[in-house]
Amino acid sequence: MDEQGNATHARGTFNVLDENLPPEQQVLGLFYAKWILGALRAAVEVRVPDVLAAGPRTATEIAAEIGANPDALYRVLRTVAAAGILDESTDGRFALTPLSAGLVDGAENGIRDMFLFASDPMFLRPYENVAHTVRTGEPAFVEVFGMTFYDYIKVNPASGALLDRAMVQNHWPDMDRILDDFDFGRFPRIGDIGGGRGQFLARILLRHPRCTGVLADLPPTVAEAKAELENAGVADRVTVVPTDFFEEVPSGCDAYFIKHTLHNFDDDKAQLILTRIRAAIGNNADARLLIVDQLVRGPGEWDTAKLIDVEALSVLGGRERNRQEWNRITAAAGFQPVNEPEPNALVLLEYRPV
Ligand SMILES: C[S@@+](CC[C@H](N)C(=O)[O-])C[C@H]1O[C@@H](n2cnc3c(N)ncnc32)[C@H](O)[C@@H]1O
Repeated sequence: MDEQGNATHARGTFNVLDENLPPEQQVLGLFYAKWILGALRAAVEVRVPDVLAAGPRTATEIAAEIGANPDALYRVLRTVAAAGILDESTDGRFALTPLSAGLVDGAENGIRDMFLFASDPMFLRPYENVAHTVRTGEPAFVEVFGMTFYDYIKVNPASGALLDRAMVQNHWPDMDRILDDFDFGRFPRIGDIGGGRGQFLARILLRHPRCTGVLADLPPTVAEAKAELENAGVADRVTVVPTDFFEEVPSGCDAYFIKHTLHNFDDDKAQLILTRIRAAIGNNADARLLIVDQLVRGPGEWDTAKLIDVEALSVLGGRERNRQEWNRITAAAGFQPVNEPEPNALVLLEYRPV
């Protein structure tokens, strides 16, 4: 603890507590997150950022444009502005700030779909009953919705489509570092397993013009991949394979890349996916498994992987892993580690087949 009573750790500190309150009351400051997120989600749902993209407006003007209650809208927007996410001027007009510019539909490097996905009831409602998960080890999602997340996505295609659009906006600053540091160019044919609409495969292929790619994901997801790959100008180098990776992974690739996907599953299921990848590799000893995910840090360290792990646990029945845990499930599927990256928000773990 430092003098203000904030937890400090060897590797970074993140203070979500209100230092102005006595220490025993500081956790109550966590509710600011709920109040701000709820107000901001409402503003995004009714498309306030889209209206403000045309210039500053009063709440009354915005309400007339979107068909909302002016008083309620004003009170929500002043909360969002108090948090610094919109600007509120003394003449009563609201404007976008750099923090809200990405919430405009279609904004370059925008995050509107990711924001709506991550704050959707399918992710929020399980948080009402994380205690159920703690007591039983089972995802609270099943308790709340009466089915697993994956079945929910199947029977609610709109939620599945939101997931797919959100993943196109799955920008992590660390991804640029991985693209800079790791030589994907040494693999003539790169498979992206659970690659969504091909958003990441496209980024690799753009950097490596001699490589070709295979995009493997569920049929409804890859059905929408063509436009993404064409927009990026790589469609002619990508074979799109609709598949269920628990059943089969396409063979013939030199690298099998799997990003932000294995953490959605428990060890048994993740191991089954890895076994399918190992089968696809066959006796190509030069082929590689490339996992991009998080590495959980040690006790007491600030770590978004620990936060996301509870979400993975309560919503999906998945888990974030440390290096030993990754090595255990990959070894069980027939892989050996090649590299030893430092824990980071996102890491690339390279494995060879054995
Ligand atoms: C969290 S997303 C990650 C997408 C992408 N790799 C990225 O990093 O942006 C997980 C992906 O796994 C895919 N997926 C889930 N279950 C699958 C299955 N049984 N077979 C194939 N793909 C699946 C989803 O459709 C989704 O695109």
